[in-house]
Amino acid sequence: MSLKLGDQAPDFTADSTEGKINFHEYLGNNWGVLFSHPADFTPVCTTELGTTAKLKKDFEKRNTKVIALSVDGLESHKEWVKDINETQNTDVNFPIIADEDRKVSELYDMIHPNSNENATVRSVFVIGPDKKIKLMITYPASTGRNFDELIRVIDSLQLTANYSVATPANWKHGEDVVIAPAIADADIPDKFPKGHKRIKPYLRTTPQPNL
Ligand code: BEZ
Repeated sequence: MSLKLGDQAPDFTADSTEGKINFHEYLGNNWGVLFSHPADFTPVCTTELGTTAKLKKDFEKRNTKVIALSVDGLESHKEWVKDINETQNTDVNFPIIADEDRKVSELYDMIHPNSNENATVRSVFVIGPDKKIKLMITYPASTGRNFDELIRVIDSLQLTANYSVATPANWKHGEDVVIAPAIADADIPDKFPKGHKRIKPYLRTTPQPNL
């Protein structure tokens, strides 16, 4: 199934390191990150899951629940978590789905057979509280993901969800944002009391509204 931005995130029930999980129930009213990795006991994946565990507070601050997945089995996941904790000096604090029957991988199109028939690629889905897909990224097995970028994107998505703004290239938390084109000039002072710059009629910036 080919998913697109704005689609409903497919629901599923699956075994995980934290027991049987229903995805939508697990997310509740939070934002969610569902990410797949190619295989347990592999070096890049080990660093990725360790990095994710260390970002627990950052995800919590953003009301975001994380869940990982590969097509390895539950016993393998559980053994591997011990290695992740030991080598990455952390405690894996989110569930890892054991998708041996590939049900979830197929639902989310995480297996790209021309890359590898037997393993998931590094997919990331960010899901909003409305259960709609807000972001999809796909990395090859050989490139570990940048989880700081993932946090940056969640910040951007949450700003857009709560204010009529978008974020410019290379935007970082605390920097000015772009006022949505749909906002008329006349409405800007009320909506953005911190002030704004009108660089072009279509390019208007304002300080980050939620600071
Ligand atoms: C890794 O996680 O290190 C990895 C997994 C599959 C292929 C290449 C690297």
